[in-house]
Formats: sequence, C-alpha cells, structure tokens
Amino acid sequence: MRILVTGAAGFIGSHLSEKLIELGHDVIGVDCFTDYYSKDIKRNNIASLIKNERFQFIEADLLKLDLRKLISGIDYIYHQAAQAGVRPSWGKSFEVYNRLNILITQRLLEAAAKTNIKRLIFASSSSVYGDTPDIPMTEHSLLYPLSPYGVTKLAAEQLCYLYWKNFQVPVVSLRYFTVYGPRQRPDMAFNRFIRATILGEKIEIYGDGEQTRDFTYIADAVSANMLCMENGSPGNVYNIGGGSRITVNKVIEKIENISGSKLEVSYQEVQKGDMRHTYADISKAKDELGYAPSIGIDEGLANEVNWLNEINKKGLLCR
Ligand code: NAD
Ligand code: UGA
Repeated sequence: MRILVTGAAGFIGSHLSEKLIELGHDVIGVDCFTDYYSKDIKRNNIASLIKNERFQFIEADLLKLDLRKLISGIDYIYHQAAQAGVRPSWGKSFEVYNRLNILITQRLLEAAAKTNIKRLIFASSSSVYGDTPDIPMTEHSLLYPLSPYGVTKLAAEQLCYLYWKNFQVPVVSLRYFTVYGPRQRPDMAFNRFIRATILGEKIEIYGDGEQTRDFTYIADAVSANMLCMENGSPGNVYNIGGGSRITVNKVIEKIENISGSKLEVSYQEVQKGDMRHTYADISKAKDELGYAPSIGIDEGLANEVNWLNEINKKGLLCR
C-alpha cells in the first residue's frame, strides 16, 4: 500500500512510519519541522527512516502544498501533524492551533473527498473530553474540552465526521490518551521528569500531583493505528488508552526508582487547560479493532529512560 503520514518527523508519526515500512508498505512522510521543539530531535527521529528506499520524505508545510496532488495514488492517510501541547494553547498562540489543527485537517478532508482512499485515520485526543462527568470516558460521554487545544482537536474530529457523512471520506478518529515512550515530545511530563534526573535539575508538578492519566505506550498507540486499516469503521471514534492509569506523584516515584536518583520537586498552581483525570474505556477499540494494550508503565518508562540516556550521549537532550 501507498501511505501518507503527516507529521512524520514527530513523536508518533515517526514510530508509525517505521511500523508501516516494517510491514512492507511504501510511506510518504511530510513534515515541516515546526519550531514547537527542536528540529534536531525531529531529524534524529527519522534518521533511520530516511535511509530506507520505501520512505519518501517531503520537508514541506501542509498549508503550502497542493494536497490533491500529494494524495493522488495514496491508499491510506495517517494525519498526525498538529500543534500538540495542551497548556500553551491560550492567548496569541491559539492562531497557530487553529491553522495547524483545524485548517490543515479541513484542507486534507476537502482533498480526500475527491479520491478513492481506503481510510483517513485522524490523531484525535483525550483532551476532547475535558470536564466530562464520566470516569472512565466512553465514546458516548459528553464532550467539554477544557483547553483551546482540546477545542481544536474536537473541531477537527467533527470535520472528519461531516466529511464522512456528506462526502463518504472513510475517516476514523483515534482519541489517544497521553502517549509516552522513546521520542516523546520534550514538553511532555515524562520527558521533562526523566531529563531532570539526567541533568540534575528541579521539576515542577502542576497542582498536588494527584491528577491521573491513562498513559499509553507508543507501540500500543501504533498498533491501534495498524488495526484501524482493516477494522476501523468509517465515521467512528475510538478511545486508545494504555491501561496504565496512575497519578503524577506515582510516576515520579517510579522514575526515581528506575533512575536511582531523587527528584527535587516544586509544587505549582494547577495549569489552565489541564484535565484532572483521564481514564479510557477501551471496550469499543477492543471489540471492533481488536486493540489490546500490551506494555505496562514500568516497562514503558524504563524504555523512555534508556532512550533519553542515548539522546544525552548524542548531545541532543533539549530543555
Ligand atoms: P509532535 O509535535 O511530535 O508531531 C507533530 C509533527 O507535525 C511535528 O513534527 C511537526 O513539525 C509536524 N507539523 C505540524 N504542523 C505541520 C505542517 N503545517 N506541515 C507539516 N508538518 C507539520 O506531536 P505528537 O506528540 O507526535 O502528536 C501527534 C498527533 O497526535 C498530534 O495530532 C497530536 O495532537 C495527537 N495526540 C498526541 C498525544 C500525545 O500524547 N503525544 C495524545 C493525543 C493526541
Ligand atoms: C498529552 C499530550 O501532550 C497532548 O498532545 C495530548 O493531546 C494529550 O496528552 C491527550 O491525551 O490527549 P498531557 O496529558 O497534558 O497531554 O500530557 P503531559 O504533558 O505528559 O502531562 C501529564 C500530566 O503531568 C498533566 O497532569 C500535567 O499537568 C502534569 N505535568 C506536566 C506536570 O505536573 N509538570 C510538568 O512539567 C509537565
């Protein structure tokens, strides 16, 4: 199959591209190395991919490309490109979230409406749930995003639905729940905390640290995407949680145990936009996709620690 991965140099997009290549597909990866975090890190993410002749990399901004031309002859699209941080989405930066999360998705859908693609699989987010009263969250739960980022992901997801409903674009949305593991973005909690053990720096915890996340290991998020190719039902959304729901305080304890060093923690105000808890009911993904997360938090964290130690040796550890 010929597969387009947008955001291919990012955390999830690079893993996804590698898996698709491993399974024998041809992958066209697009990324423009936005300045949200270091370009060197992203280049490192795709270092082995670009050596593979079945991976074609296009360094370009999706907003500037002729998308109809880009997707001609493509069988599947994995749309990962976005501005992904939750907490920095307020104020002036909302404009960026609007363009990268909503406008690009609309343009991609518009282009896909005139093709025979088999699936467009959209990277949605647990942040669409926000203040929902349900724990665990199901795909039928009420949606009250708490961050401007969450609003843009929900808008994009709903655009996906309406292009399915009106133009039969076979779109499936996967609501990832806080993904972690090697190549995790440097703004995310685990990366920050582990980095601090390596560099001997202080960390900040937002709130009392008793908030929970249903952390999802990267290989499990990738496997959900693979299952979607055959089993994802167009027009549908699926929760992709990792089954490792724990508090941030517990994560710190685990990182201290793995790294053998004590972290200096400063407790700060709760950040605007942060959900208190996330917890995915994954029965729909289990039943319809055959999804079953297989990597627990201890193994997954150890893998991320090893990766950050490697990155440090390469001089790429970024703050
Ligand atoms: P990431 O920032 O590592 O990857 C996104 C990539 O998209 C970046 O490399 C960026 O340069 C690229 N990009 C952005 N705008 C672009 C444009 N206009 N043209 C070309 N490339 C562009 O983020 P990630 O953590 O890998 O997240 C991937 C997707 O998954 C995002 O859509 C995000 O919203 C979603 N998501 C992530 C998580 C998570 O925990 N990481 C959870 C839920 C949802
Ligand atoms: C993550 C991703 O960053 C988003 O792209 C994604 O959309 C979202 O998951 C999702 O599941 O949809 P978040 O859960 O905020 O967002 O992930 P982290 O940055 O890893 O934060 C996890 C928890 O740690 C949050 O409660 C946050 O407040 C806390 N945190 C984070 C700290 O206490 N200190 C920090 O320095 C960073």
